[in-house]
Amino acid sequence: MDKKALEALLNDMSTEEKVMQLVQLSGSEYEAAAEITGVERGQAKDNVRRLAGSTLGIWGSKRLRKIQEQYMSEHPHHIPLMFMLDVIHGHKTVLPCPLGQGATFDPEAVKKGAEMQAKEAAADGVHATFSPMADLCRDARWGRIMESTGEDKLLNSRMAAAMVEGYQGKDLRDNAHVAACVKHFAAYGAAEGGRDYNNTELSEHTLREHYLRAYGEAIKKKPAMVMTSFNSINGIPATGNKFLMKKILREEFGFQGVLISDWGAVGEMINHGFAEDQRDAALKGMMAGVDIDMCSGCYSACLEELLNTGAVSMEMLDEAVLRVLTMKNDLGLFEDPYRGLSMDGPVVTEESRRLAREAVAASLVLLENKGNALPLRKEKIAFIGPYADTKRLQSSWAFSGEDENTVTVWEAASEVCEPENRRVATGCTMLDQDAVTAREICHEEDWQEKNDRLLAEAMSVAAWADTVVLCLGEDSTQSGEATSKARIQLPAVQLHLLREIKKTGKRIVTLIFTGRPLELMEVRELSDALMICWLPGTEGGHGILDVLTGKVSPSGRLTVSFPYTVGQEPLHYDMYPTGRPKPDEKGNYPYTSRYLDCENGALYPFGYGLSYTSFAFTDPKLSAQTMSVRGAIAASVTVKNTGSRKGSVTVQLYIRDLTSSRVRPVRELADFKKISLDPGAEEEVSFVIREEMLRFWTAEETWESEAGKFHVWICNDSRDGEPLEFQLI
Ligand code: BGC
Repeated sequence: MDKKALEALLNDMSTEEKVMQLVQLSGSEYEAAAEITGVERGQAKDNVRRLAGSTLGIWGSKRLRKIQEQYMSEHPHHIPLMFMLDVIHGHKTVLPCPLGQGATFDPEAVKKGAEMQAKEAAADGVHATFSPMADLCRDARWGRIMESTGEDKLLNSRMAAAMVEGYQGKDLRDNAHVAACVKHFAAYGAAEGGRDYNNTELSEHTLREHYLRAYGEAIKKKPAMVMTSFNSINGIPATGNKFLMKKILREEFGFQGVLISDWGAVGEMINHGFAEDQRDAALKGMMAGVDIDMCSGCYSACLEELLNTGAVSMEMLDEAVLRVLTMKNDLGLFEDPYRGLSMDGPVVTEESRRLAREAVAASLVLLENKGNALPLRKEKIAFIGPYADTKRLQSSWAFSGEDENTVTVWEAASEVCEPENRRVATGCTMLDQDAVTAREICHEEDWQEKNDRLLAEAMSVAAWADTVVLCLGEDSTQSGEATSKARIQLPAVQLHLLREIKKTGKRIVTLIFTGRPLELMEVRELSDALMICWLPGTEGGHGILDVLTGKVSPSGRLTVSFPYTVGQEPLHYDMYPTGRPKPDEKGNYPYTSRYLDCENGALYPFGYGLSYTSFAFTDPKLSAQTMSVRGAIAASVTVKNTGSRKGSVTVQLYIRDLTSSRVRPVRELADFKKISLDPGAEEEVSFVIREEMLRFWTAEETWESEAGKFHVWICNDSRDGEPLEFQLI
């Protein structure tokens, strides 16, 4: 349909029909088996179900075809219903959780992963995914950190942009792509105390320089949708926040697509104490420019009345409805309301498994490798722990992927280790007694008895082995939405298992499955090797064994700082300097910005990760010592693989503005490149520094660079390297 035809359709619609295009109903209104994340508000009225413009949480070509047929036959203008779903890190084939995908530092691979997800989802009748999540996350207590690509704005920007491109492709009509939704606008990751749905307080410069960046970069790729966030920001709920939605999103970022609220967020403005009732909430949502009300019921209940009283104008309604119709048109729904619905439905293929397996291997972050404990030798290996043979390797946000397709660590080990050299034991329950989930409730024996039995089995398996691969971690229900934690250790029952296994004196390779940074001091001490496996998804077992056996050398880097202790949170490498920096060396001066009982920095910092080979960075240099505003300088370093195995390394460029009208972080990632080198091979890695990279929100509230000195690091992680210096003139 062309624009004229769309406008003609709009003009022909009744006010009720128009209003309902802005209403999103839960899939449970159309089908009982929907995936629900929010609070159900009860049954929708018949007219709302007949006319609501979109729904979420359901998939499956046959099921959706039935719903679409019925819906279209009842709709006065036969406008198709739009199906949306949270395809966050996989639909059928599940990739590592986003925090793990970030660790690949490989936006191209992440884009390919998004393409694969889109293809599978589209073949299941899905039109739009609520992804990417571009929220900057600096707080390990916040369970949704798992859904982000971490604490750095540049990495998040590249990853979110890559995901939008991958999901949407060049043409949304081609049945192999789905509409993307950049969320949660804005600053959801800054929730106070790491408590989900909580208030955020951010200065405008921190908001603009750090928190808004990734949304902005992703929006440049023209996602079909943006979602508001649950939090209030500086006292105003995001969903009713005109500054965010009108000034920043529409005016400054030039976003022209559909703005959708998060689940129930329009109505939640009442709980925030920002709206008096549903009517007021609907008004405030509309005034902020929220097009679709996801499941709060406020628009369906009150928007017509607001139009009748003149509080909302018909012009405003038409603009919002036209955006929704345009999205349907861009998806080709007017030509083919059954797009994707005639297919058999997606299956996990060899090709999707290959992609997922490579993604897993590239996402693993090796933190310790004492005495070259890894790669595994050909010897007796015991795979022990609640993660050794579980299929639950995907996050709580991968509900459309089936566990049965997942390859466990033990299953993958069985393909590569000889039977006489491998054994397995669960070792303990996943969770502590007071956190036991419904899935783990013991029927035949009590929790303690079960753990005594599991431990005894594990000890005898460990006694047999030369090396124990200990598979520990948080349960996948412990990260994701509404999973904030004030303690971020492994479950006590798992730590007990580790301590007991340590007593056997066997070599211990600890694998940590997690959706958030954890406190790992003790684990590090007791382990010979330590590797973060995130929540790796369908091909978890295979990707992990590829790295354990040395088929692939680990190359993942931390996307988020791992603290010594939770008391350091929020923790991130790009801090602002203080007037009393902690002395680097053994300075004894007590009146500095520091903890009495802990380091300031991370146990493992952003960008950190080891390999099986070693890399030497030599001759870092800048092409000039001064740079003019229109000029550019090159920053380069020679990287050599000095070990005996092929490996990949992520070379990182950091910059610091030394003196400026507003304090600037102690360093900020400005670029990165991942290269692969054979043993003995070397390559010059070069970056271009341009003036745009030096801009910030100045004291004058302008987005500019300021003349002066800058430091540059070309290095291996956010704590590494010696600075070079140049001057911007
Ligand atoms: C989450 C969103 C999600 C939505 C729809 C909400 O609870 O915050 O991220 O897209 O539910 O499932």
